Amino acid sequence: MKLLLLGKDGQVGWELQRSLAPLGEILALNSRSGSYCGDLADLSGLAHTVQTWAPDVIVNAAAYTAVDKAESEREQAYRINAEAVEVLAQSASASGALLVHYSTDYVFPGNGVIPWQETDEVGPLNVYGHSKLAGEQAILVSGCAHLIFRTSWVYAARGNNFARTMLRLATERDSLGVIDDQFGAPTGAELIADVTAHAIVATRHEPALAGLYHLAAAGETTWCGYARFVLEQAAAAGMPLKVAAEAVTPLTTDAYPTPARRPANSRLDTHKFESAFGLQLPGWQQGVARMLTEIQGK
Ligand SMILES: NC(=O)c1ccc[n+]([C@@H]2O[C@H](COP(=O)([O-])OP(=O)(O)OC[C@H]3O[C@@H](n4cnc5c(N)ncnc54)[C@H](OP(=O)(O)O)[C@@H]3O)[C@@H](O)[C@H]2O)c1
Repeated sequence: MKLLLLGKDGQVGWELQRSLAPLGEILALNSRSGSYCGDLADLSGLAHTVQTWAPDVIVNAAAYTAVDKAESEREQAYRINAEAVEVLAQSASASGALLVHYSTDYVFPGNGVIPWQETDEVGPLNVYGHSKLAGEQAILVSGCAHLIFRTSWVYAARGNNFARTMLRLATERDSLGVIDDQFGAPTGAELIADVTAHAIVATRHEPALAGLYHLAAAGETTWCGYARFVLEQAAAAGMPLKVAAEAVTPLTTDAYPTPARRPANSRLDTHKFESAFGLQLPGWQQGVARMLTEIQGK
């Protein structure tokens, strides 16, 4: 099997380099790659890459993910999250390749408390969400074989992430306030990459599995609950902190204004994914605890 991986150095892309390795011959690119164009802003270069490498599977882990910045960089967000995805979808449709793509809970309006199902009506609250939805729609319109995974609150041991920021702030500051009225599940890039490899193999054997799926770790929390869990684990591991987990102050979204509006309900119902692929998604705490062990060991 020949694979093309785009966005190889992002949180999910980095883990995919590992998880896709046993599947076949991989061309893994970032926006600065040399002989093949991996820049999603270069639409003709991107189409040329797919044409010349002729992959059986295209995995797109690249995205414009700066949610707040997207409010003022609409064109750039749409170029990468929608127009480039359309190019990939059309190329996949023409060549018969399977396109694997990631989307987000931010396609939903975030009202209510019930986990979103794949069939629920969408209604993004911000430019990023709209641009990601446009990417999904371009894939559906193209008619290419696809796996679209909507995920949420992605983290990884590599790079900057929420957990690392909480650890730093809890050592620098005397108090910490974190949003407590947005609900979702932190989902590890490792988990996403591992199940992606499994789903690719399964879908190559059974093409009817292609489709749109919600993919997130099990359980739910708020950003405040997530922060408290991180600080609890760090304290138990002997890290000196100035703010104890129970001292983190819960904030409302209104008290922490950001350029982009964010959904209060980011819960994703993952039953369709679990039953289609015969997998059980682990509780969010498991992956976060593992990531903390990893970053504390560095
Ligand atoms: N992060 C989250 O909380 C979250 C939540 C829900 C869904 N998702 C979705 O999950 C997927 C993976 O996200 P992630 O967390 O792994 O994102 P990430 O860590 O921000 O990685 C995104 C990657 O895309 C690359 N990229 C940006 N512009 C590019 C361009 N023009 N050409 C090529 N590459 C470009 C970035 O490279 P540079 O850094 O070099 O620009 C980066 O490596 C995305 O589709 C995202 O929308 C993420």
